[in-house]
Amino acid sequence: MQSIPLGVSSLRSSRLAYGCWRVAGSWDPVEVTAASRAAGKRAVIAAYEAGYTLFDNADIYCRGEAERILGEVLKEVSGMRDRVVIVTKGGIRPGGDPQPDSPGRYDFSAAYLLDACDQSLRRLGVETIDVYLLHRPDFLADPEEVARAFTQLRAAGKVRHFGVSNFRPTLVTALQVACPMPLVAHQVEISLAKLEAFTDGTLDQCLIERITPMAWSPLAAGLLGGGATRLLESQKTYRPEAFLPVVDAIAGARGVSRTVVALAWLLKHPAGILPIIGTTNPDRIREATKAAGLELTREEWYRLLIAARGEPVP
Ligand SMILES: NC(=O)c1ccc[n+]([C@@H]2O[C@H](COP(=O)([O-])OP(=O)(O)OC[C@H]3O[C@@H](n4cnc5c(N)ncnc54)[C@H](OP(=O)(O)O)[C@@H]3O)[C@@H](O)[C@H]2O)c1
Repeated sequence: MQSIPLGVSSLRSSRLAYGCWRVAGSWDPVEVTAASRAAGKRAVIAAYEAGYTLFDNADIYCRGEAERILGEVLKEVSGMRDRVVIVTKGGIRPGGDPQPDSPGRYDFSAAYLLDACDQSLRRLGVETIDVYLLHRPDFLADPEEVARAFTQLRAAGKVRHFGVSNFRPTLVTALQVACPMPLVAHQVEISLAKLEAFTDGTLDQCLIERITPMAWSPLAAGLLGGGATRLLESQKTYRPEAFLPVVDAIAGARGVSRTVVALAWLLKHPAGILPIIGTTNPDRIREATKAAGLELTREEWYRLLIAARGEPVP
């Protein structure tokens, strides 16, 4: 697969990234079985063998189980650690921590981030995280305090680069102003079913600041593929049936699958959107890579945008 630079860093990623959210086979660690873990490891290995070189993770994915699974693969596959970029996230604090009645919340306090990062390093079994992202904006985020935590993590050799996820552009700016290092990635939901990043300033800011936009749920969690088994609450209102015939028509004309068109649509944006592929099916992991070889025309791109919007552009 072709590669692209990550923000202004010297790191490069394959044109599509692989996401480890679903690799444990469940959100709940109690439901994880030896068979579901083994399937998750096979998925990660399939992605590596298909040429994916960026692996996205988070401490809350199945309460650390997804980081452990990736860590085991990194240990078992000779040379893999040195050839891939490891991205993980922190800052979401699940309910029940530290008291049983503590609410689920966000925590960007330096003490919490430093500890969360140490725990991710242990689960991943690596010395350094290549890119550490703040998962969702903390209502109480203090950019100066976050900058101190980032500086400490970088000085200790625990993290190379930093970024954010699901931030408003103004909060990205506030953090960037406080940080001595450039933020290299902003991970947000972008797909034909989720268009806000094109108009809310997120992609404009990525272009201005040379931040790599990473697209989560690029297939709307499966709704733009063969169907979704697990949707986030916010994704349950998506109605792609209205525009999928247009995706299918272009796919038919180009001799590719619907998912390849949906991913190629993201790849065309000049900000260099990096779609994070979430399937754990090895065939689908390989199929997605064909998107890197499909250049849509501007006319095709706009036909898809208009279908997805459900109305012409103004
Ligand atoms: N920063 C954040 O807040 C955030 C939030 C969510 C996700 N993420 C990241 O984004 C990654 C991707 O998210 P996602 O898993 O929702 O992405 P996605 O690629 O949009 O959806 C993957 C889901 O679609 C299903 N699917 C159905 N038909 C498919 C097809 N033809 N091809 C591919 N998949 C198909 C897959 O099922 P099968 O496995 O059965 O194929 C899987 O359940 C995650 O792994 C995670 O790293 C980040």
